[in-house]
Amino acid sequence: MLVATGIAMLVAGHETTASMITKLFALLLSDRTRWESLLVDPSLVRTAVEESLRMDANAGLGMARYLTEEVEIGGTLLPPGTTAMCSMAAANRDENAFERASEMDLGRTPNQHLAFAAGAHACIGQPLARTELQGGAGGAAPQAPVAGTGDRGGRSTSSRGARRRWARGNYRCDGDVMNKIDGNPSRAERAHATRELILTAAERLFAEHGLLAVSNRQVSEAAGQGNNTAVGYHFGTKADLVRAIARRHLAQIEEIRQRMVADISDQTEIRAWVSCLVRPMTVHLAEVGSPTWFGRFGAQVMTDPTLRPVIIEETQSSPSLARIVAGLNACLPDLSDDVRAERFHMARQLLVHMVAERERALADNTPTPRASWHHTAAGLVDALVGLWLAPATNDS
Ligand code: HEM
Repeated sequence: MLVATGIAMLVAGHETTASMITKLFALLLSDRTRWESLLVDPSLVRTAVEESLRMDANAGLGMARYLTEEVEIGGTLLPPGTTAMCSMAAANRDENAFERASEMDLGRTPNQHLAFAAGAHACIGQPLARTELQGGAGGAAPQAPVAGTGDRGGRSTSSRGARRRWARGNYRCDGDVMNKIDGNPSRAERAHATRELILTAAERLFAEHGLLAVSNRQVSEAAGQGNNTAVGYHFGTKADLVRAIARRHLAQIEEIRQRMVADISDQTEIRAWVSCLVRPMTVHLAEVGSPTWFGRFGAQVMTDPTLRPVIIEETQSSPSLARIVAGLNACLPDLSDDVRAERFHMARQLLVHMVAERERALADNTPTPRASWHHTAAGLVDALVGLWLAPATNDS
């Protein structure tokens, strides 16, 4: 009997927790803002573990229960002698029991999930399982601040040498890398990290659902902020938030463009200028690594009548873009100013929406006409050169 109990404990206690630890990490890393929330605020580990158990414990089909007396469930009377299958997974996502049940909220409290069942036969190993899960996530996060799920096309979030900076300690999000902070993070550093979390969450949500469909409250929640007004506090209006997201990328795109423009300073061939227009965006997205959201975010903003001017304003001040416009115009002396301006608008539409199309296809795992961002750029350059060189009808 003792041996049988020991074996039962080993089975019940090993497989369950081992697979739950793996799922816990998968859940935290599948949306990097979750992992980053944990780095910024390690005290979230307890609620994060409970939320992971709610979202994806070892539920399987459910647990069978033989009813010895009449039971009413959801208005239905089940007579004695019934065998009922209890789906813990369904119970754990019951909208009547959990607000926004399908969303993972690392700070959710209270969280009365049924991952360990309930009643007389509830899991006796739950304190041990919780200790192991909290120890796993709480211990691993600071040691692997830039961990990823490995689904980034071979580029984990450890790109740009960040992996070399792994060490024990506190971390801050700098763009897409986490940097070590000596000692406890200061108030300013915590605010910076929170802003980064909000920017990342907002960009993703806007890209996936559209600007109008996403509220500041949803952004705050997705960024793991307990306080629903975090977006307003850190950024002000939605336009300010959109501007901040755009700036994060546009600064890097401008750097790439400046380098490219400098390399062709004596070039007069139209393809070279068009390439400078297209490639900074595709090179940047390739550098960010999969998944990206900026392409779809850009397309959403460019079709929003009130927020479109924000991005236009941000790009108009670009010195390298002004240089490209001048370079292209010099290649096309026969086109009128109006036709040139019209073709710039057409080129912008094509660039913005083709990039968003590819990004969406990558996110949906559907086929793309080109194998990489590099090849996508080649196709765009071909098309845009043709567009600029097309004869203009003079019907004014
Ligand atoms: C994430 C980890 C775990 C999960 C999700 C889990 C889940 C569950 C669930 C749902 C039950 C109820 C089964 C039923 O009523 O039919 C249960 C029972 C049980 N669990 Fe766990 N468990 C976990 C870890 C552990 C550990 C670490 C141990 C022991 C070291 C353990 C030992 C047991 C035992 C002995 C029972 C039977 C209790 C009884 O019938 O009175 N479990 N567990």
